[in-house]
Amino acid sequence: MLVEVALLPALLTPGQLRGRAVAVFDVLRATTSMAAALAAGVVDIQVCPDLTTAQLSAAACPDPHLTCGEKDAVKPEGFDLGNSPGAFNAAEHRGKKLFMSTTNGTRAILAAGDARWLFTAALVNAKAAARALTSTGGDITLLCSGTNGRFSLEDLLGAGAVIDSLHESADVRLESDAALLAQQHFEATNRRELLAALSQTQGGRNVARANLSQDLLFCAMLNSIDVVGVVKGSPPIVRRWEPGQ
Ligand code: MLT
Repeated sequence: MLVEVALLPALLTPGQLRGRAVAVFDVLRATTSMAAALAAGVVDIQVCPDLTTAQLSAAACPDPHLTCGEKDAVKPEGFDLGNSPGAFNAAEHRGKKLFMSTTNGTRAILAAGDARWLFTAALVNAKAAARALTSTGGDITLLCSGTNGRFSLEDLLGAGAVIDSLHESADVRLESDAALLAQQHFEATNRRELLAALSQTQGGRNVARANLSQDLLFCAMLNSIDVVGVVKGSPPIVRRWEPGQ
């Protein structure tokens, strides 16, 4: 299978994702939070273009639900949860629907509407994401969300982790230098130093500045979650992917 990496949603060319299996990465923290929410038993996550839409959609939802997201890394006023993956737990959140809006991650998902199959991925579920992507039999694009419109190294690291797992079960041909860069960056990063790698990035510094450094620890736990989100519909809804789906 062919594998490419897109470094930013803004750099996508028209039709680039058409017919492909795409995984969106916002390692710090939106797609990590999605993995954690689904693992905690959240029913589904509606991806909202902005905070107001998240609140209005949630208010119109008759089922048990929560709003979640961030503005400048912190919980927006009136929201139930911020964007901390460690906040999700089965006791409080199982069976609930989530309405989510973040600065970069949810927007990258919205930018990937052309994909034939769309997944959400991070370091925490890189292996599970590779399994889901491989199951499609399609060529793959790993889409980095970036941070405030700029390239982000943590998303490249996440893409590299998925490429590493893809190699275990598939005949992978890297299609671009960006894919090669992702693979080389992951290979060059000591698995025990992922936290340090995340902490050095712009996104990592933003999270630390908001006194949320414990989130970095969660986001750095490679393959700690065996759950991956699949995105379908309009508005896009993220659900737990099951093999054979
Ligand atoms: C985002 O989607 O912009 C990020 O997840 C930002 C954050 O978590 O602070």
